[in-house]
Amino acid sequence: MFLFKEGSMNRLRLKNRIVRSATWEGMCTPEGEASRRLLELYRELVKGGVGLIISGYSYVRADGKQMPGKMGIDNDSLIPALQKLTDVVHDHGGRVFCQLVHAGGLAATDAPLAPSAKDATSLRAMHQHDIDELVAAFAAAAKRAQESGFDGLQLHGAHGYLINQFLSPLTNRRQDNYGGSLENRTRFLREVYQAVRREVGNDYPVTIKLTAADNIDGGFTLEEAVIVAGQLDAWGIDAIEVSSGTAAAGALSPVRQLIDRPEQEAYNADYARAIKQAVKAPVMVVGGIRSPAIAEELLKGGAVDFVALSRPLIREPDLVNRWQADATHRATCISCNGCFRPGLKEGGIRCIVV
Ligand SMILES: Cc1cc2nc3c(=O)[nH]c(=O)nc-3n(C[C@H](O)[C@H](O)[C@H](O)COP(=O)(O)O)c2cc1C
Repeated sequence: MFLFKEGSMNRLRLKNRIVRSATWEGMCTPEGEASRRLLELYRELVKGGVGLIISGYSYVRADGKQMPGKMGIDNDSLIPALQKLTDVVHDHGGRVFCQLVHAGGLAATDAPLAPSAKDATSLRAMHQHDIDELVAAFAAAAKRAQESGFDGLQLHGAHGYLINQFLSPLTNRRQDNYGGSLENRTRFLREVYQAVRREVGNDYPVTIKLTAADNIDGGFTLEEAVIVAGQLDAWGIDAIEVSSGTAAAGALSPVRQLIDRPEQEAYNADYARAIKQAVKAPVMVVGGIRSPAIAEELLKGGAVDFVALSRPLIREPDLVNRWQADATHRATCISCNGCFRPGLKEGGIRCIVV
């Protein structure tokens, strides 16, 4: 099966085409340090067969933090714990990327930074010096990730966080050269990508989770995403993971619920197909993939190069091994999103369905 064929991103070889999509685990200390529980989870995931783990979203600066227990990569004191985490993965033959994020206007601080301030909110519109400092923070975090032994990086360019906030005309109302035209709305992403690439070098995998659309009227569109993906490709991105939606998109959020029929599966596949046609870099798709046959078809038909899963691997961390043993095994995750709750209340996500 294509699912179990080797793949690559930049010079990195991956043992199969199945990726654990970035998943906030809520298992870090208030300072953002990886805990033993997180180590054990990554050990379980690697032993369970995934070709690549993408870490939970990790804040590049403390004011970009959102959910509790989120991983930090904003200062050097976090590196030793991260090294232990990447060691566990490597000891079991796995690969792991670090997902870099700043939550921007969604950050859990009193006055979050955002591309634009909207009336009646506490958002602070970013000045040029804020932009420059944040670009530098992404680059410094990238360096730390490399020093910590991560095999590559993923920029979080989706789900309504800062990069997505700059891309979207709904959250970016700037009148300067970071707002207005698509070229201007893409400028922050370009500066982040280029600063990160300079820091880690050309041989190190730098990838992105890119929103294909906000799925909200007046928001960022697929047509725009295809253009941005083409630019990322030209700049040298090593893979693009296609997602869509923001928390404000209702039923079309990044984490769509109750996927119980084949037609509901792989809900970003059409977006991914459109992006794949515009780029040479490998494309991954995430969102509602539950059946090996559907995942296999996406790979075989050339729609994508990798498939990424989040919720099914919370319930069944060994899902890949199960698929390899039985290609008719559909993930038992019912996509209820109940896994978020213990993450908020108990210091770590888990499946709550018995
Ligand atoms: C508990 C939980 C935490 C998540 N954390 C992140 C994250 O840190 N970064 C990210 O890009 N997406 C995150 N997501 C979204 C997933 O990566 C994925 O895009 C989404 O769940 C759809 O895929 P699925 O149907 O396989 O779950 C999270 C999803 C869940 C359920």
